[in-house]
Order: sequence, then C-alpha cells, then structure tokens
Amino acid sequence: MTYLLALDQGTSSSRSIIFDERGQLIASAQQEFRQIFPQPGWVEHDATEIWQTQFATCRQVLQNAGLQASNIAALGITNQRETTILWDRKTGQPLANAIVWQDRRTESYCEQLRQQGKAEQIQARTGLILDPYFSATKLKWLLDQIPGARRRADAGELAFGTVDSWLAWQLSAGKLHVTDVSNASRTMLYNIHRGEWDQDLLDWFDIPPSLLPQVLPSSHRFGETSLLGDSIPIAGIAGDQQAALFGQACFTPGMAKNTYGTGCFMLMHTGDNCPVSQNGLISTAACQTDTRPQYALEGSVFIGGAVVQWLRDGLKAIQHSTDVEELAASVPDSGGVVFVPSFTGLGAPYWVPSAKGAILGLSRGSTVGHIARAALESIAFQSTALLQAMTRDAVSPISELRVDGGAAANNLLLQFQANLLGIPVIRPKVTETTALGAAYLAGLGTGIYQSTDECAALWQMDRQFFPTMSRDQAASLMREWEIAVGRIR
Ligand code: G3P
Repeated sequence: MTYLLALDQGTSSSRSIIFDERGQLIASAQQEFRQIFPQPGWVEHDATEIWQTQFATCRQVLQNAGLQASNIAALGITNQRETTILWDRKTGQPLANAIVWQDRRTESYCEQLRQQGKAEQIQARTGLILDPYFSATKLKWLLDQIPGARRRADAGELAFGTVDSWLAWQLSAGKLHVTDVSNASRTMLYNIHRGEWDQDLLDWFDIPPSLLPQVLPSSHRFGETSLLGDSIPIAGIAGDQQAALFGQACFTPGMAKNTYGTGCFMLMHTGDNCPVSQNGLISTAACQTDTRPQYALEGSVFIGGAVVQWLRDGLKAIQHSTDVEELAASVPDSGGVVFVPSFTGLGAPYWVPSAKGAILGLSRGSTVGHIARAALESIAFQSTALLQAMTRDAVSPISELRVDGGAAANNLLLQFQANLLGIPVIRPKVTETTALGAAYLAGLGTGIYQSTDECAALWQMDRQFFPTMSRDQAASLMREWEIAVGRIR
C-alpha cells in the first residue's frame, strides 16, 4: 500500500494526516497553538511554534499509523493563507511574530490606498479586494516597523513567505524558498493573469523582490525532506481553501465547495476563465497541476467555526466545541436573536474592515441556548450571502454545494444551511478534504495518480441535506440577517 502524508497548518491548529492511495484516512495528529492578541484587531502567531507543532504532529502521525518515513511516498503541504512571516535567511529565525490573515492593523493604510484610487488596479491585477486580509500590507508593516528590517531586506538577508513557504524552508533545512500559485495569489503582490510577481505592485507596496519565494504549480516536485528519517519528496503545496476545492474533486467549472473551518470559505471552480466579481467576491488561483492556470471565484467569511471557539473560550458557554450542537438544539429556534460574529471585521461579500461583532434581538427570555443557536445560524447566514453573490455574478448556476471542515460534522448547521440555500448540501465521507487535496497534489506530483480523474473517482458521499424550509421563510430569515448586518456597519 502507498501512503501520502498531508501537513495541514490551519489557523487554530497544526495537523498531519496520513492517507492511503485510495484516499482513505489512516491516521491523524493535531496540536493547537497559541493565538496572540497584542491589541484589539491584531492577531499573531509565533512562527516557531507553528513549525514546532507542525513537525511534532508529523512525527506523531507516523507513530499513530505505525509507519516510518520510508513508507511515505510523498508529502503535501496545505496552510492557512495570507499569514505573513519574515525571517532571516542565514539563521532561519523569524524577525517577529507572524501577522495572521485575520489581523486588521493595516486598515488605515488600506484606506489611504483606496483614497489614492488604487483599489481597482489592485483588483484588476490580483483579483483581490483591497483589504488588510491579504499579505502585502502586512509585509510592508513588518518592513516599516522592525528596526533595520528594510535595510536588511534590501541587502537580500531576509525571506518572506506565507506559512507554506515557511514550512517548506524548515522541512528542507533552508534549501527551499518556494510557494505555489494558490498561495501566491493571496499575497496581493502576484498578477494572477500573467502568473508572476507584479513589479508595479512591488513598487507601490515598497517590497524588495529579493524577499519573494519562487512560485511553482501546486503539484510539483518542490524538493524533499529528510527530517523524518528517509527522504520524502515534497510534491504538493496549496492554500487550504484551494486544497479543499481539490480534495472535494471540484475540478470543473461550476463545481463549488464550502469549508467550515476557523473562517468559512466558499469557492467555485471557473476553469481557465478568471471572472471579475461585481458582487464582493474575489478571483483567485485554483490549484495548478501543470503550467496551465486555473481559477476560482471565492467568498471569504472571517469568522465561521471560530464563533464556536468564542462560545467555548470567550463566553465559556460550552466546554468542548462539539457541545454546541446539543446546546443549540435545546431551543427550537434562535428566539429572535441574531449574532453577527464580525470580531475581525466583515469579509465577503460586505467588506467592512472596521466592523465589530454584535448579538442583537435579546429579550428577557433569551438563554445561552438561543445565543448558541444564533451563533451556528450566523455561519449559515454568511455562507448563504456568499452563494447569493456567486449566483448574482452568474458565472454558472450552482445546483449543489459540497461541504467540509470541522463544523461540517454538525447536522443541525448543515440542515439549516440547505434550508437557507434552497439547494442540496452534500457532505463527503472524508471531511478532511483540505488535507486530502494536499495528499492528492503530492500523489499527482510523484506519479501515484496519473490524472485528476483518478482522484475524482475516489470521492464518496456520506450524506445529503435537502432543503425543507419554504423559500419565503428562508428569504425572510435572510432579510433579518441583512438588517442585523446593516446595524453593525
Ligand atoms: O484565508 C484564510 C484561510 O486560509 C484560513 O483557513 O482553515 O485556518 O480557517 P482556516
């Protein structure tokens, strides 16, 4: 049997998963790491801790599976995207904490750029909406704020990378400084039409090109790692949402998936067509298995499953994240409570960087059950707003939605999601599709699979959720949601 190892470095935890060549999950290991909030709106990770927890899970998963490095045919990396790391090429030490994708510290700079009329040109080149979410302004902030960083960058002493580059660097003991198209397309420095770093953007953001990793297809023999024992080819790299699209076997235009992770990310494959959204979505590079560019339309919601984490850690309403389904099911509905969890601004399709979260519609009868239910519903409301925006962009109709991620285990959430959307919501047998996508990319990069058709044939359904609510009722609930969003703008 052939085995593939996927490293899934997410916002809340580092995970490693071993799959066999039939796409069956053999073993997994996971470690959470610290979320650092130095100021309101700031979110940081310790890049060294990211690496240490990731590497620890690699060793642990081999042990859990009873396998050794020599049994692993290839390794794939998938990662939280946009999170920005700057490190010293000689020592491999990060110069500061990683600035996480959720961090809003560069909003005033983004506003200046908007005032200068740069937003449209940035979108035309990168497919992205000008927002602190993406890496460019975070990298500029690091270069401007860390004493000596800009001088050292100009002297070629430093390296920038998103988390994939950082892990590839660590795994190869500093030999690889690489990324793939799907991660590069999230930096706001990469021209997705021309498939290269964009010199004008580098000039506007004042980023020395010497900092940048080499951009390669997502499925590719990037190099190898010997840190786990025998050498393992690193043959797949992709941002976690594009990897999930791949793991869901959404390879053809019009196929869409929604991942319920820390955030919530809906992506629709658009093939070699790169549409520009008129409705607050972004265009992004999908995974590339050869040199032909592939694209997707994406809606990014910043707080998805993280609202459950907040119920657990902030409100202390539950002890474990999985307890939320029972608590939410203890009431028949949210009792008029609407929860807008815009803790880190509102992403697609609204784009309100300064928004704060709110719980509206509380009455004397409101209980923590209603709040939990409203929290779960907020995930589905936000996802519905994304699907509606995609439908308005009318690239192609979406007739069903494949779902995955941690919160996709929650039946209550998926039923409510299907009710709001009015189309079937489909959960695959393997919901670890992000990691599976990275494994497939690594398998394709090393000839274990000959084509994506082989991966598509492995996709299996677990359960379908059909809409049971009237369209009128769904529309009225969505109207209440939009009113609540209007109030926190
Ligand atoms: O764009 C951010 C995204 O990649 C984070 O994904 O799975 O950590 O919520 P996740």
